[in-house]
Amino acid sequence: MDKLLITGGRPLAGEVRVSGAKNAALPIMCAALLTGKPLVLDNVPRLMDVRTMAKLLALMGVEVGNQENGRLQLQAARVANPEAGYELVKTMRASVLVLGPLLARCGRARVSLPGGCAIGARPVDQHVKGLQAMGAEFSVVQGYMNASAKRLRGARIAMDMVTVTGTENLMMAATLAEGDTVLENSAREPEVVDLANCLKAMGARVEGAGTDVIRIEGVPSLSGATYRVMPDRIETGTYLAAVAAAGGKVRLTHAAPDILGATLEKLHETGARISTGTDSIEIEMGARPKSVSLSTAPYPGFATDMQAQFMALDCVARGTASMTETIFENRFMHAQELQRLGADISIQGNTAVVTGVERLQGAKVMATDLRASASLVVAGLVAQGETLIDRIYHLDRGYEALEHKLSGLGAKIARVR
Ligand code: UD1
Repeated sequence: MDKLLITGGRPLAGEVRVSGAKNAALPIMCAALLTGKPLVLDNVPRLMDVRTMAKLLALMGVEVGNQENGRLQLQAARVANPEAGYELVKTMRASVLVLGPLLARCGRARVSLPGGCAIGARPVDQHVKGLQAMGAEFSVVQGYMNASAKRLRGARIAMDMVTVTGTENLMMAATLAEGDTVLENSAREPEVVDLANCLKAMGARVEGAGTDVIRIEGVPSLSGATYRVMPDRIETGTYLAAVAAAGGKVRLTHAAPDILGATLEKLHETGARISTGTDSIEIEMGARPKSVSLSTAPYPGFATDMQAQFMALDCVARGTASMTETIFENRFMHAQELQRLGADISIQGNTAVVTGVERLQGAKVMATDLRASASLVVAGLVAQGETLIDRIYHLDRGYEALEHKLSGLGAKIARVR
């Protein structure tokens, strides 16, 4: 199995192009289920999760084109098999995003329950509750949700907590429902806005995406569209955190600085010099970073998907920081691996206290989830000597050409067997 070998201690310099956002591409691919016409997507990142979603859609009968130069065409002329099986759902929880579109388009869906995952329980009760309010009937048989509805009806739905994929599932379902739907306590994440924009390009009537109340007026059918996926703000933040930790000067292109508010604010606190253009960000770090405390929160708060990378940064910073994780109950697994590199971290409940050390020392470590792996890469880039990261299939799920992009910035990094 592939591993990543990093020889740390070199500053990063040069330019790197940001890829399309994984967390926008996945729901937008599911939107193809809502129409028989072609949906042509640009800026689709080359990632394992995108391939998994393409496979899942193909198994349902969606025609999936070859991905070339970031372009991917999907056409669901017929959805012969409105089903998402356990084998794929267990590898990618975002598979549950097919549920709303399938119900809306086919009137039925059979989707495996995702089960627990490494970072916590992650139930899908809000997705189910919302679809039930729209008239769907659910039963659970042998680990699968069986859902049916002749035609979904618009409804007023107040979600009990902010859920990104929950909001996306219900928004997609509502586009083809009869009448109006109001989604209260909606997630305000930019990826929700990107999905809404794609749905609008397909003829859906959606208002308020980006606020906590989204209104959808159902229409009888949607058309095809050509749509460009937004830049990946988490990939962007990961490279920025790497530069703040390892030092150097890097320019990121094809980025979206305006949706990175909380991350950029924290990077300023580390002492990094940052300047932004319309679609570019430049970061320069000449000294050891200052530590930053943070608490994760739904957008526009500090993203839980950036917590691990900032923990790696705090491990080598001047001072002591506290990091509180409020979204997922078990999202500090990277802490033990960082400790293998010499980090000083203590964890109490959902708070980690990190005291920066002068130097980390390379070691063998193991990735446990996508963003945890990214934190090990950041740490490996700073650590003295060699860091060997095992189980990097987690990284391949969400980072396009990571080792090529980092080599391009002067890092000593290689994929080894
Ligand atoms: C999405 C992102 C993921 C990110 C997360 C939080 C995608 C594909 N993934 O995941 O990268 O870490 O948002 O920003 O976009 N919850 C329930 N019941 C539900 C739904 C959620 O209890 O029905 C809880 C979850 O367990 C969690 C919290 O709500 O504690 C937020 O989860 P949610 O926003 O749904 O995360 P995802 O959409 O799965």
